[in-house]
Amino acid sequence: MKASPRRLTITAALPYTNGPIHIGHLAGVYIPADIYARFQRIEGNDVAFICGSDEHGVAISMKARKEQTTPQQIIDTYDAIIRESFTDFGISFDNYSRTSRAIHHQTARDFFTTLYEKGAFEEQTNQQLFDAQAQQFLADRFVVGTCPRCAHKEAYGDQCEKCGASLNATDLIDPISTLSGSIPEMRETTHWYLPLDRSEAFLKTWILEEHKGDWKPNVYGQCKSWIDDGLKPRAVTRDLDWGIDVPLEQAKGKKLYVWFEAPIGYISSTIEWAKNKGIDWEPYWKDSETELVHFIGKDNIVFHCIIFPAMLKEHGSFILPKNVPANEFLNLEGQKLSTSKNWAVWLHEYLQDFEDMQDALRYVLTINAPETKDNDFTWSDFQSRVNNELVAVLGNFVNRVTVLTQKYYQGIVPTPGGLSDEDQSLLHQLTQTPSQISQSLEHFKFREAAQHYMGLARIGNKYLADQEPWKLIKTHPERVPTILFVALQLAAALAHLGEPLLPHSSKKLKAMLNLEHQTQSFTALALAQNLLQPGHQIAEPQLLFRKIEDQEIEQQLNKLRASAELNKLPLEPKTYEPVKDLIHFEHFSALDLRVGSIISAEKMPKADKLLILQVDLGFEKRTIVSGIAQYFDPEKIIGQQVSVVVNLAPRTLRGVESQGMILMVTKSDGSLEFVSPQQHSENGSLIS
Ligand code: 2FM
Ligand code: ZN
Repeated sequence: MKASPRRLTITAALPYTNGPIHIGHLAGVYIPADIYARFQRIEGNDVAFICGSDEHGVAISMKARKEQTTPQQIIDTYDAIIRESFTDFGISFDNYSRTSRAIHHQTARDFFTTLYEKGAFEEQTNQQLFDAQAQQFLADRFVVGTCPRCAHKEAYGDQCEKCGASLNATDLIDPISTLSGSIPEMRETTHWYLPLDRSEAFLKTWILEEHKGDWKPNVYGQCKSWIDDGLKPRAVTRDLDWGIDVPLEQAKGKKLYVWFEAPIGYISSTIEWAKNKGIDWEPYWKDSETELVHFIGKDNIVFHCIIFPAMLKEHGSFILPKNVPANEFLNLEGQKLSTSKNWAVWLHEYLQDFEDMQDALRYVLTINAPETKDNDFTWSDFQSRVNNELVAVLGNFVNRVTVLTQKYYQGIVPTPGGLSDEDQSLLHQLTQTPSQISQSLEHFKFREAAQHYMGLARIGNKYLADQEPWKLIKTHPERVPTILFVALQLAAALAHLGEPLLPHSSKKLKAMLNLEHQTQSFTALALAQNLLQPGHQIAEPQLLFRKIEDQEIEQQLNKLRASAELNKLPLEPKTYEPVKDLIHFEHFSALDLRVGSIISAEKMPKADKLLILQVDLGFEKRTIVSGIAQYFDPEKIIGQQVSVVVNLAPRTLRGVESQGMILMVTKSDGSLEFVSPQQHSENGSLIS
C-alpha cells in the first residue's frame, strides 16, 4: 500500500540583507535545506520550503550608517543580490519573501498583540545602556563588551558569537557603543519582556525528554546548557528607528526586537505563498501532522529551539518544530569566514570565475559540510574533489557509457543477454543505494548521502574499467550489449538519485538519457527493474563536469592573499609533514593490515585521550587502545569499520594491553577520521 504523503514546512534561516551571501551560508543552511526539500518533494510529499530576507535589526542600520545611505537602500540592494544567488545555485524555495513587506509587518504585529492580550509579556521599566553622543539606546550590535559567560571581548548586546550565550545588553562587562566608541550611560526606559523562565518546565519536557536522541547532539547539547543555566526574561521590544512598530499606544516610537519578528517571517512568508497559490496556509503551521523543520546555523539555535517555540506555544495555535538540524560553522583556509575582512567566497563572485559550476560547489560543500563540527573549505580540496570525484568518477562513468552507446548502438539502449555475477551484483547495488541515500537524508546526514551517491558512481566506473567493453567489442562482441545495458541502468539511477544533491547536473544527465520528464521517487527506484528499456533512444553525450586547473586555484588564493594582507590576517602557506625516509618493499609487505569492526568502546579511566576498543577482526577479537577519545563519542563508533595493523607488537598503555593499531587520517583542522572501506567489507579482509 502506498504511504500517504507527509506535509512538511521546511524553513531556512532568513539571511540579513546587510551583505551578499557566501559559502558558509550555503554549506551551513541553504544547501542542506534544499537537498532535504527536493528529496521530500521527489518522494511525493507536500512541501512548503520557506525563506525570505531578514531586513530589520541593527545589522542593517549599521551597514546603512557605514555606507552613508538609508536602510531601505541597503535592503533593496542586498535582497536583489541574495535572491539572484539563491536562484543561481538552484535553492528551490517555494517562497522567498521579505520581512519589510506589509504582510509580514501585519503578521508580526498580530502575533505580538495576541501574546499581549494573553498576558504573555512582562512590562519592565528599568535602566538601559544609552549613548549620549549618538542619542540612542544601545542594544544588540550597537554595543559590544565582554561576555559574562566566556570572557570573549566582542560579545554583542544580545548574543555572544563565541560561546552562543544569549544576552541582555546590561549583562555585558565593560560595554562600549559601536556607534560612537563611547562608554554608555544608564537611562530609564520601558520594554516588554517574554518571561522565558515561565516556559522552563515546558521546554524541559519538550526538548530534554521528547527530543533526546532525536535532535543532533550539538543542538540538544546547546539547548540543555541554556536550560540548565536557567532561563531569564528577554526584552522583545527596542528603542530603535528601523523595524516594525510595536502595536501598543503606550509604546510609540518603539520597535519589535528583530529576533522576535524575524522567525514570524517564516509564517508570513508561508501566508504569502499560500495566498499566491490560492490555498489555505494554516495546515502548514497548525496541523499537528505537519512536520516543521528549521535549517539554521549554530549561532541561531537558541532563537529557534527556545525563544521561538516559547512564543509559538504561548500563542497556542501553532505546531512546534519537529527538528532543528543546525550545522556548525565552515571556515575558509583555516580561518573564520568574515564579511568585514572580506574573508569569504562570495557566491556571485564564484559564478563569475566558475561559470555553470554551481553543482561543483554544491557537491564540495555537501561532502565536506560542517555537520557535526566546524569544517574547513580549502581551494585545494575543492580542486581535488572536483577533479578526482566529479570529473574522474561520475563524469567519466557517464561519459564512457553514453559515448559507447552512441558509438556501438547509435544511442539505442541494447538488449541484454544473460547476466554475469558482476552484472547482477551491480544491479543489486542499484536497488540498495536509493534506500541508503533516503535513510541518510531523512536523518539529515547529507555528507553520508553524498558519499553513498559517489560510491555508486565509483562502482559504475570500476565496473566499466573491469569489463572493458571497448576491448570486448573486438574479442567478445556478444557481451557488450549486456555490459552497456547494465551500465546504462546505473547512469539512469545516478540521474534520478542526483536530483536533490546535484540538480543542474542531474537535469543535464536526464536530458542526455532522454529522461527529462521523468521523476522517480527513491522508494520507486529501489523497486524498479529497468530504468531504461531496451530500444530506448538516448541523446548526444555532453560533459557533465570540467576539470579545475591549477592556475584557477592560484587565482582564488591570490584573492584571499590580498584580503589577508589588507586585514593583517596570518594566511600561512599550507605546510605538509615531510615525507619519511624510503623503505623497501619487504618492509611494507611485512605489515599486516586488516578490516575490522569496532564492537565496543569505552573511555580509559583517568585518561583524556584514550579509548579502549574491542575490534572484531573476523578471525578473532582484539583489544586496542587508541588515542582518539577527544574526537569521538564512544557510543557513536560502535559498528564503525576500521583499518587495523594486526601484526604490531602489543604495547601496554595504562595497564591495558593494546593488540594492534587503528589507522587514522589527520585532517587539516587537526581532527581525526577513520580510514575505512568505502562499502561494508568482511571483517578480517586484507588491506594491501
Ligand atoms: O543570523 C541570521 O542571519 C539571521 N538573519 C537569521 C534569522 S532566522 C529567522 F528566525 F528569521
Ligand atoms: Zn561568550
